[in-house]
Amino acid sequence: MAPHDVETTFQRHFGYAPLLVRAPGRINLIGEHTDYNNGFVLPAAINKEIFFAVGLNGRPEARLVSQDLNETYSFPVEAPRRQDRQWANYLIGVTAQLQKLGLDVPGFDCVFGGTIPIGSGLSSSAALESGLAVALNQLLDGQLNRMQLARAGQLAEHEFAGVQCGIMDQFASLHGRAGQVVRLDCRSMEYEYFPFDTTACDIVLCNSGVKHALADSEYNTRRRECEQGVALLKQHYPGIESLRDATREQLEAHRAELGDVVYRRCRYVVEENARVEAACRHLLAHDLTAFGQEMYGSHAGLRDDYEVSCRELDFLVEAARPAAGVYGSRMMGGGFGGCTINLVAPDQVTTFVRNTRAAYQQQFGRALETYHVTIVEGVAVV
Ligand code: GLA
Repeated sequence: MAPHDVETTFQRHFGYAPLLVRAPGRINLIGEHTDYNNGFVLPAAINKEIFFAVGLNGRPEARLVSQDLNETYSFPVEAPRRQDRQWANYLIGVTAQLQKLGLDVPGFDCVFGGTIPIGSGLSSSAALESGLAVALNQLLDGQLNRMQLARAGQLAEHEFAGVQCGIMDQFASLHGRAGQVVRLDCRSMEYEYFPFDTTACDIVLCNSGVKHALADSEYNTRRRECEQGVALLKQHYPGIESLRDATREQLEAHRAELGDVVYRRCRYVVEENARVEAACRHLLAHDLTAFGQEMYGSHAGLRDDYEVSCRELDFLVEAARPAAGVYGSRMMGGGFGGCTINLVAPDQVTTFVRNTRAAYQQQFGRALETYHVTIVEGVAVV
């Protein structure tokens, strides 16, 4: 899949020349489920991408074509409403959010297709939202900045896809820089780039192939549990606005009141924020071994306290841990399936991939897909 594929399809369907946009998926090195708790994340945009061909059609409707699914969908632009076709909802949602930001979105045509595996924790939905947002902003000379476009994507997800997601995925797709990871402070929205040297270690993703049906509802439940924790802590410490403000000592002092489940959700978040900060220090010190230990810590917390892992992901992390050349491994993204992220010494990648695939096949009787990814620039007009 390349930009000219969607361009050819666009020409065939609509018969005029489109604008071409590339929107990447993302990885997250560490800092999971921290974004909606006002904490820190450390994502990067990767070379798994969605390509868009978009043009204004002078009609009252938007005409959408999913090249990979071989499906089409139309909706009236002056009244974008949630539909029963989920992939269309992301695009309808973005249209609605751009209108709320004051952009007068007229009828448009959009063909998209790409290489981000769906439902694998690589944020294909954020790429879908961010790509269309940039295309329309460009075609309409909208002057909206990238943070506004990221928010538009996030709200599209809340209101049209029904997932109360944080800002990380849309932010990463829109703000990625080649060869760098970016630490975002989800409270102040300040961000800082850190070089990520892929000659020292490669990034290998192992796709469990599990798409948990409960992922969206469990995600929203985790968010609520964190809010319950904040509400209780706030009664004792009025300064606490989010789990970002809470300390382990405060959690311990009110452990019984919080109750086991909410206590453990909160403990995970507080510890994960500390791990992101430590991980950034290790990155600056070029200490990949110490960085990797933070990743294992993250996985253990996601598995035991936050309870968003699954046995396939746990198996992949445990298989990676003793393997030669592996610095760190953990589940990535919302959880309940999707990929693990592994940092692997370049000369060990081939062996790592071969052995992990064989072990997975033997354990679960199914093939393991792996992706050797590189860090690329965020959404761009091609
Ligand atoms: C999903 C959400 C993000 C983030 C991660 C977990 O990818 O879209 O906002 O919460 O899960 O870190």
